[in-house]
Amino acid sequence: MGVEPRTCRLLWDRPQGAFSFYWEGCIIVFKDLRETIAAYKARDPAARSSLEIFFLYPGVRAVRRHRRAHWCWEHNLKFLARFISQRTRRITGIEIHPGAKIGRRLVIDHGMGIVIGETAEIGDDVLLYQGVTLGGTGKDKGKRHPTIGDNVLIGSGAKVLGPFTVGAGSRVAAGAVVLEEVPPDATAVGVPARVVRIAGQKVDYASEVDQIHVPDPVETEINGLRRELEALKRHLGVETALEEEEQ
Ligand SMILES: CC(C)(COP(=O)(O)OP(=O)(O)OC[C@H]1O[C@@H](n2cnc3c(N)ncnc32)[C@H](O)[C@@H]1OP(=O)(O)O)[C@@H](O)C(=O)NCCC(=O)NCCS
Repeated sequence: MGVEPRTCRLLWDRPQGAFSFYWEGCIIVFKDLRETIAAYKARDPAARSSLEIFFLYPGVRAVRRHRRAHWCWEHNLKFLARFISQRTRRITGIEIHPGAKIGRRLVIDHGMGIVIGETAEIGDDVLLYQGVTLGGTGKDKGKRHPTIGDNVLIGSGAKVLGPFTVGAGSRVAAGAVVLEEVPPDATAVGVPARVVRIAGQKVDYASEVDQIHVPDPVETEINGLRRELEALKRHLGVETALEEEEQ
């Protein structure tokens, strides 16, 4: 009894398909890893060799594991995705929700204490230091976490909270708490964060304030009182009575 030619074909096709799927995956992972290691070398002066970066940098490991968790999340394997993400947190101290979308060449320096929320999106060539939170304020539903543009630097301990965008090429200073959109190429510092530089130029708030045409507060107050008095007079009909008396 021979095997039908159709069955033979299926048996032949499937392992081939599986192998090419696996092989393509390997190429993508390898390419991603190579450019990530190059990004670490470029951005971390303490990085000595590719071997050291690959084996000893928690950021590399966390992002590699996140790619796996994100794949599971996208393919409806939610529990497995959360399991991988929580194990990564235990191993590296970096918590990335499997739903978060992360671009290429993300560099995480030191890493410990980083939290990246479910609906956060991170562009390419982003640099995050330890203790960064890309979180929600607790007030939003659906998209609750920030979108980080390409080439953004976020300093240690900075908190970026809410569903807004941090523009490409921006810098968020260490310790800043960002609660609203940051334009591209800007530097945001402080709590709550304010933009102090755009494209390297100081944002001069003082020169934007009109210091000549300032309203006189006493005059404003007197005008207000006059308006109130007129309204009261009209209400009581005083003016009409006086006018009648005069006549
Ligand atoms: C913000 C940062 C990226 C510098 O960006 P920049 O565009 O070059 O800005 P500048 O250095 O010109 O500083 C701009 C202004 O912000 C102030 N500033 C810089 N960093 C600040 C911070 N963390 N908190 C408050 N103010 C800060 C500067 O004093 C300067 O003030 P001025 O306008 O009165 O002169 C850098 O200061 C920073 O915080 N890097 C993070 C590094 C980090 O986290 N390292 C951890 C290593 S483990």
